[in-house]
Amino acid sequence: MLFTMDWRLASFVLIPVPFVFIGTAIYWRRIYPRHYKLSDASAKVSSLINGIFSGIRVVKAFSQDARENERFVSSVEYQHAVRKGVNYSSSMFSPVMALVFSMGGFIVWYAGGRLVIEDRGVTLGTLMAFLGYLGMFYGPLQGLTELSAWTTSFLASSQRIFDILDTPAAIEDRIDALPLKEVKGAIEFKNVTFGYDPYSPVLKDISMKIEPGQFIGIVGKSGSGKSTLVNLLCRFYDVQAGTVKIDGIDVRDLRREDLRKHVGIVLQEPFLFRATITQNIAYGRPEASSHEILDAAKAAYAHDFIMRQPLGFDTQLGERGAGLSGGERQRVSLARAILYDPDILVLDEATSSVDTESEQEIRRALAVICKGRTTIAIAHRLSTLQGADQIYVIDEGYLAESGSHEELMAKEGIYWKLVKIQTELTNLGA
Ligand SMILES: Nc1ncnc2c1ncn2[C@@H]1O[C@H](COP(=O)(O)OP(=O)(O)O)[C@@H](O)[C@H]1O
Ligand SMILES: [Mg+2]
Repeated sequence: MLFTMDWRLASFVLIPVPFVFIGTAIYWRRIYPRHYKLSDASAKVSSLINGIFSGIRVVKAFSQDARENERFVSSVEYQHAVRKGVNYSSSMFSPVMALVFSMGGFIVWYAGGRLVIEDRGVTLGTLMAFLGYLGMFYGPLQGLTELSAWTTSFLASSQRIFDILDTPAAIEDRIDALPLKEVKGAIEFKNVTFGYDPYSPVLKDISMKIEPGQFIGIVGKSGSGKSTLVNLLCRFYDVQAGTVKIDGIDVRDLRREDLRKHVGIVLQEPFLFRATITQNIAYGRPEASSHEILDAAKAAYAHDFIMRQPLGFDTQLGERGAGLSGGERQRVSLARAILYDPDILVLDEATSSVDTESEQEIRRALAVICKGRTTIAIAHRLSTLQGADQIYVIDEGYLAESGSHEELMAKEGIYWKLVKIQTELTNLGA
């Protein structure tokens, strides 16, 4: 429209356009890293608060309130400074661009006015109409500059999200991974060597063969690599040398989802969600009937203390299972594993927080649980392993001893020593 009315005036209109492009380019280059820094600063504030609140008891107990407060304030101040920088740049950008655009208007007023006064083919009416259309042209363009301010903030935020989404998984399923339907429960570690840092192995040349249905005990000092062994079995990590096999199939050839469907773990640190006890027990099988949940709780000797809660099974637990003692939490997570009914059950120091009295119950519970499935129990308290078919002693990453309780006692080696120390301690306590 502008060009058909008067091409000379219309070309004046375009004079600010290159400046707008240059301005926008400069703005993008300057603002983009600032937006990125801002999201980073906000994330740090959030994780700091999260850390302080989840560890509030430690903070209070060591009276570190003032220091945490200081840390929080300095982190918020940094975020504040970064945000100020971002807001400053983006509030500068739109008005400056508006100014540049209005320059185009002034040029048209001036040049068009001269053309009208000097009577060079432009009437006053044309100029007025032209200026009217000019408003319609610049209005949306200004809207576009604001849009570019939004897009920078949006792109900087999405960049951070894609950083996470695009992180490659350390462990991938093979494309031709085998499905795993029925599991008998034979497990074999063959010359397994593994370290979280490849240059300092945690497990060294471990070989063990577990028959289906066996109850296996694993003992060893803290830090000797017991939990690592479990991580390899569930394929949270891959071995560096050797193989881990289930029913004769290398776990690396299996789909992880299938593998974990058949392997149930009770972790050293039970994790309970902010939900009712029922929901926590039924976590792995949300469709389980209340009857099955009740049975699982009974098998884990959790039924009694659950019934003592104000709302029984419907009692709402707090963050990470707050409201239950450590031993009670362990028994709820044991019930969770029982309900999951895996073919292979791994208990990683699952009864370490349970007191000696309930330990009797736990032992009876274990005897029931491990029937009909391969069970690997890592135990700190050796008395829980007396009925094991086979006990493996891990020492500094090596498989030091193996055999039944009686065989290992007769050997008078590491296991014998550990048992002796524990019985002496128990006797002292009594
Ligand atoms: N995620 C990890 N990253 C790096 N090192 C780890 C990790 N987990 C455990 N370790 C190290 O591996 C060793 C064995 O740990 P772990 O298997 O947990 O011992 P435990 O026998 O007490 O269960 C320890 O020295 C520990 O520091
Ligand atoms: Mg451990």
